[in-house]
Amino acid sequence: MSQSFDVIVIGAGPGGYIAAIRAAQLGFKVACIDAWKNAAGGPAPGGTCTNVGCIPSKALLQSSEHFEHATHHFAEHGISTGKLAIDVAQMVARKDAVVKQNNDGILYLFKKNKVSFFHGQGSFARAIEGGYEIQVAGETRQTLVGRHIIVATGSSPRALPGVPFDEDLVLSNTGALALQAVPARLALIGSGVIGLEMGSVWRRLGAEVTILEGLPTFLGAVDEQIAREAKKAFDKQGLKIELGVKVGEVKTVRKGRSASVVVNYTDAKGQAQSLQADKLIVSIGRVPHTEGLNAQAVGLQLDERGAVVVDAECRTNLPGVWAVGDVVRGPMLAHKAEEEGVAVAERIAGQHGHVDFNLIPWVIYTSPEIAWVGRTEQQLKAEGVAYRAGSFPFLANGRARALGDTTGMVKMLADATTDEILGVHIVGPMASELIAEAVVAMAFRASSEDIARICHAHPSLSESTKEAALAVDKRTLNF
Ligand code: FAD
Ligand code: NAI
Repeated sequence: MSQSFDVIVIGAGPGGYIAAIRAAQLGFKVACIDAWKNAAGGPAPGGTCTNVGCIPSKALLQSSEHFEHATHHFAEHGISTGKLAIDVAQMVARKDAVVKQNNDGILYLFKKNKVSFFHGQGSFARAIEGGYEIQVAGETRQTLVGRHIIVATGSSPRALPGVPFDEDLVLSNTGALALQAVPARLALIGSGVIGLEMGSVWRRLGAEVTILEGLPTFLGAVDEQIAREAKKAFDKQGLKIELGVKVGEVKTVRKGRSASVVVNYTDAKGQAQSLQADKLIVSIGRVPHTEGLNAQAVGLQLDERGAVVVDAECRTNLPGVWAVGDVVRGPMLAHKAEEEGVAVAERIAGQHGHVDFNLIPWVIYTSPEIAWVGRTEQQLKAEGVAYRAGSFPFLANGRARALGDTTGMVKMLADATTDEILGVHIVGPMASELIAEAVVAMAFRASSEDIARICHAHPSLSESTKEAALAVDKRTLNF
């Protein structure tokens, strides 16, 4: 006999597992199905984010930053270390342990919230009266019946045409997070978020890193002034980024025990170039993942990229079927997926969950970190919005000086008439944490004057946000 549920969630990434927990909190009988396997073949809920995304990348960024500090910055603090060594296998093992803590944490949360977890591939079998039959292919095959289905099947890395990932020489994010030694020469294609974060990890650990980027502009979605400042810092670190290239043939060369990758490309001046590397990371974006879902069995509408088509409230073309996270339109971010998961569970309960895309913060966890929320200066110009801008450099912030990390600035954009904050853009230390204040301010539709009038602790990096707000009115106190 099949088990029946009010809500069945397919996928236990940040979109799916959060939707399942919220639906259970709201009193529904909930199942969550996830196919991800750990090294032993057991369940590993948490999706891309937990297993091969947000969490492991931040673990390696932390380890490599410690190494960078020990190598280049301890001496100025009067700390001598002697000769340093890196044990990459230990670094990766620590990262794996952090991932496992998160997998186990989600299994615990499912138990606590009485979410029934099924380990296996979930797929649509057929529509029935008042719901859908969902098959789970795990160690055994079972059929579940759900009144509401939430598709949260995430995304997969996009490969270069004709260059499949072998996770040995040509790596996706999965291979990039599992290298057992530092490659002497590392090539990356795509200087987006993954390219910059992964390039930073392996550069800090000693690799010579070259990133080939197709677009002529660096980080086109970022505020231009912030992107320029970040590029300057990356150049100084020796992260080589070539813009405006056209990647041609990619060849893997194996001779006896040595192996390398050759990337042929045309540079921005139209010259033919060839880059030889020990490993290649391809980070050119991700594609929605709907393979194995058997969407056609029920007529679930997908677009030409394979994304599930949804309206602004994550409803699909089918009654009672919803979709959230990377598998639908919008930014591919864990917190966006989570917010959509919560909103859908609340809508199923007759509430009015809502996600404001303008208030979704972005963070790139490089050094310096880059974070922003709201509109960029170039967007405001293009939209013809009259605005005032204020910025404050970390160079003039006491805490940043004490930290020894004075690169970058906070920049605030406010409506010229109402003074409402329209965007905040940060490049610098702890930008990932500082951006939260800006999100809160914008969610409450604060003005730059509101931030300027709020008492910020001294000495703290957050004083730079207050000073940027003062700068909107051309009255910084410390610069
Ligand atoms: P996913 O996390 O992809 O989860 C989908 C789950 O569904 C997977 O477990 C998959 O196995 C399962 N699944 C798929 N099909 C089926 C099926 N038919 N049956 C059963 N299970 C199925 N975002 C951030 O916000 N911050 C970051 O710092 C960040 N860092 C990242 C670093 C890297 C290297 C990468 C690759 C991504 C990063 N992201 C980050 C993006 C983030 O990982 C995604 O936006 C997020 O994971 C999307 O969540 P999701 O729930 O939609 O999908
Ligand atoms: P991305 O979209 O951030 O960057 C891809 C880059 O590759 C772009 O700059 C693009 O112009 C370039 N590109 C595309 N095709 C190319 C080609 N053929 N040759 C050369 N360059 C090419 O995608 P990325 O870095 O793969 O990451 C995927 C997504 O994962 C991100 O968009 C983000 O949503 C998420 N992510 C988020 C993180 C965070 O929040 N800190 C960290 C890592 C990933």
